Amino acid sequence: MTDSSSNTQETDSSQYSVLNVNDWSENWQAGKIGFHKDIEHPLLVKYADKLTGGKSAQKILIPLCGKSMDIKWIADQGHTVVGVEAVEQAVLEFFTEQNIEYSKETLTDIPGDVYKSSDGRISVYRCDVFDFNRSYKDKFDAVYDRAALVAINRDDRERYATLMKSLSAPGSRMVIVTVNYDPALHPGPPHYVEEELIPKLYGNRYNVEILERSDSLEERWREKGLTYFDEVVHFLSDKS
Ligand SMILES: C[S@@+](CC[C@H](N)C(=O)[O-])C[C@H]1O[C@@H](n2cnc3c(N)ncnc32)[C@H](O)[C@@H]1O
Repeated sequence: MTDSSSNTQETDSSQYSVLNVNDWSENWQAGKIGFHKDIEHPLLVKYADKLTGGKSAQKILIPLCGKSMDIKWIADQGHTVVGVEAVEQAVLEFFTEQNIEYSKETLTDIPGDVYKSSDGRISVYRCDVFDFNRSYKDKFDAVYDRAALVAINRDDRERYATLMKSLSAPGSRMVIVTVNYDPALHPGPPHYVEEELIPKLYGNRYNVEILERSDSLEERWREKGLTYFDEVVHFLSDKS
């Protein structure tokens, strides 16, 4: 990771870190992946019906997917999953640790590769998410965003939300898990997301509802001096 003094910017109320793909790669190499969970995320399991709309065989996008167990969990429910992850180590560890047979193709239109499970249920694009739509032209029924918007640099949030909307089919849904903590105490990522931001970014197209604010204060946050750390689950349904 780059020196935090050089990659920290001032905002009105806080300081925050700015990471590029190389910084993320270095974090993966150093094993700094405190965001990773060894089980499917309980909030995904709880709100899976919201994500899928109760429908079978949905096509679901997981941006900034890491090596999340959620990729496999959603695919195991009979859906098709496309993940996007910039760091090759994460993608390789996902397929290896989950014992999923895969093939790899180099992308010709953008820098990156696509890894596909042999059963065709899971594809992971190893590329910068901001390049993804230059290679991938189909639309998704739903977007599952856990630790993705909160990992995006704050100045790129609008661009990221515009991209997610452009990749989503009419009638699509999104489940977005953001985090809420005292931003004066931690520069992120995960970046603190004020609850009003989601309607601001997505409200022109989606009805936005908060499903839950879940207390997720783990030891790693207490050690940084945080006294509260909530995961906030937003549900978005296309107005059309
Ligand atoms: C906080 S982690 C979350 C991973 C996953 N969603 C999870 O819940 O475990 C964010 C991930 O996004 C990846 N990433 C960061 N910037 C990216 C970018 N511009 N394009 C694609 N992936 C990116 C990082 O390598 C990292 O694995």
